[in-house]
Amino acid sequence: MPDLLPQPSPDPAPGSARRQHRADGGAGGARLLAVTGARGGLGASTLLLHLAWALGRRGCRTAAVDLDPAGGLGLLLGDDVLPGLRWADLPTQETAFRAARLVGALPVWHTVSVLTGDARGGPATGEDGRLPGCVHAVLTAVAREHEVVLVDLPRGMPVPVCAQVLLLTGRDLSSAVAAEVLVPRLRASALGQGEDTISSGCQDAAHKGAGETDPVRLVVRGSGEDVTAADLERITGCRVLGSVPRDRAVVQRAARGEDPVRSRSAMRRAASVLARRLVPGAGTAPVSAQQESVVGREGSGWQ
Ligand SMILES: Nc1ncnc2c1ncn2[C@@H]1O[C@H](COP(=O)(O)OP(=O)(O)OP(=O)(O)O)[C@@H](O)[C@H]1O
Ligand SMILES: [Mg+2]
Repeated sequence: MPDLLPQPSPDPAPGSARRQHRADGGAGGARLLAVTGARGGLGASTLLLHLAWALGRRGCRTAAVDLDPAGGLGLLLGDDVLPGLRWADLPTQETAFRAARLVGALPVWHTVSVLTGDARGGPATGEDGRLPGCVHAVLTAVAREHEVVLVDLPRGMPVPVCAQVLLLTGRDLSSAVAAEVLVPRLRASALGQGEDTISSGCQDAAHKGAGETDPVRLVVRGSGEDVTAADLERITGCRVLGSVPRDRAVVQRAARGEDPVRSRSAMRRAASVLARRLVPGAGTAPVSAQQESVVGREGSGWQ
């Protein structure tokens, strides 16, 4: 295993770490996007992987970090075991890593650096259920080396400070009610107002756009059910960025243990449109009118 720990620096001047932190834009200027579902099994991890793939395709240096203690994201990548570090390989109490070395040791899926669990599990939690110090250190290191870090966030876990949140919800009543309950909690957590927080290397810059921009956006799955996107916006007070279809190809690939983005699909098209709305300036891959029609016209970017 490469030496991931930083060299001890001799006698740092008071405040120098903070100055350095500001000078390089906190978390290296990376955008943290936490993806979570209003209820279990809606497809949040699948959405995250499609978004990561689409952002990578747009030329965005993208990472995907699974915070699920059960380590579910790794199972969705397909049967090919990618070489590299998993959560269980990292020292749980470490508070800093050499960013380039850590990232260099991670598996690469398409162009995306991924940190997932495996049969040994995901990030360990302490006896109080909190995540260990190394999660903060990992997010800081990964953020330094990428433009976008997508975090697979289990329900109930605090949002990393500075992160924006994509909340996947269905068009059914129980999803809508769950989203209504979750949005204020996610908002407060992203703004660092929760009881528990996950720092991410940009805590002293506060939330990007705090006070100006809501840190939470909805992504809506499915169609033809009772609740419309407009209803969801009214119920949650949260804007809808776009939607994703129910896609049979996704189900079939998951059942066969195949790479979920291996060929064209409605889900890939929808993710491409969402990626453009998330990071409008990146890359050159054009999005066609057909792709736009897949996700509707709800969203209008989010910077
Ligand atoms: N857009 C979609 N269309 C059809 N099936 C989907 C879609 N997205 C995900 N699925 C299927 O739904 C199941 C759950 O997907 P996934 O693991 O991504 O959900 P999740 O919300 O992350 O679940 P959990 O709450 O356990 O973390 C999988 O079998 C997956 O193939
Ligand atoms: Mg999941």
